[in-house]
Amino acid sequence: MTWTDIHSHILPGFDDGASSDEELLQMARMAAEGGTSLMAATPHCDCETLSFEPSEAAAAVEAYNGLLKANGIPLVLTQGMEVRVNAGLFELAREGDGLEELCLGNSKKYILVDLPLADMPVAAPDILYQVQLRGITPILAHPERNRYLVEHPAALKDLVERGIEVQVNSGSLAGIFGKQARNSARLLLKEGAARLVASDAHGTKGRNPDLSGAAKALTRLLGKEAPRLLLEINPGRALDGENITND
Ligand SMILES: [Fe+2]
Repeated sequence: MTWTDIHSHILPGFDDGASSDEELLQMARMAAEGGTSLMAATPHCDCETLSFEPSEAAAAVEAYNGLLKANGIPLVLTQGMEVRVNAGLFELAREGDGLEELCLGNSKKYILVDLPLADMPVAAPDILYQVQLRGITPILAHPERNRYLVEHPAALKDLVERGIEVQVNSGSLAGIFGKQARNSARLLLKEGAARLVASDAHGTKGRNPDLSGAAKALTRLLGKEAPRLLLEINPGRALDGENITND
């Protein structure tokens, strides 16, 4: 099996992820050894204080694919961003221009978004709805790490019922964010609310790109078919712009 990872901070110089080409190569080797063959590079993106142009990230993805090939690492990078849910995203969605550039892969049908860790802005459902009006489905990154959503599961259920997809971090299943995040991640997966698992890799320690441990954890939690659905099929659908499903 080969995994598709829709959430990583592997591009040096864009955020708090990889800090050098050498670290990118180390992360890429670790990802490939863990079974990942395709990875979206998703630097943090705040539409209110955009510190780089999306075209710069796209050019970096292309250049680093050349470097990976030259180093014989069997991993391909594709585009994406991890976009903060705030007024800047609302404005971009309202205007309509530029939203697609922030989307995952080449199909531009899904956008990876995140909330602050402690709370959920009151306007978040409206901001995400504005994105949906553009025909783009938000994928909410790691809600199991968001204190408000863990304490108010009905708020997350409401987002899911509105058509928002949910992505759980592999590290949450490993327990690196504590018991509460792990239990929440397990529950979201068991309920079928979370239909994607990704690394959110920032380096080779802690949040790292090795998805093999998550595959084992998913097998234990949901059975032997689960890793393929959550780490390969649905992530592939997200990049290809197809419907994400529970089977
Ligand atoms: Fe992230």
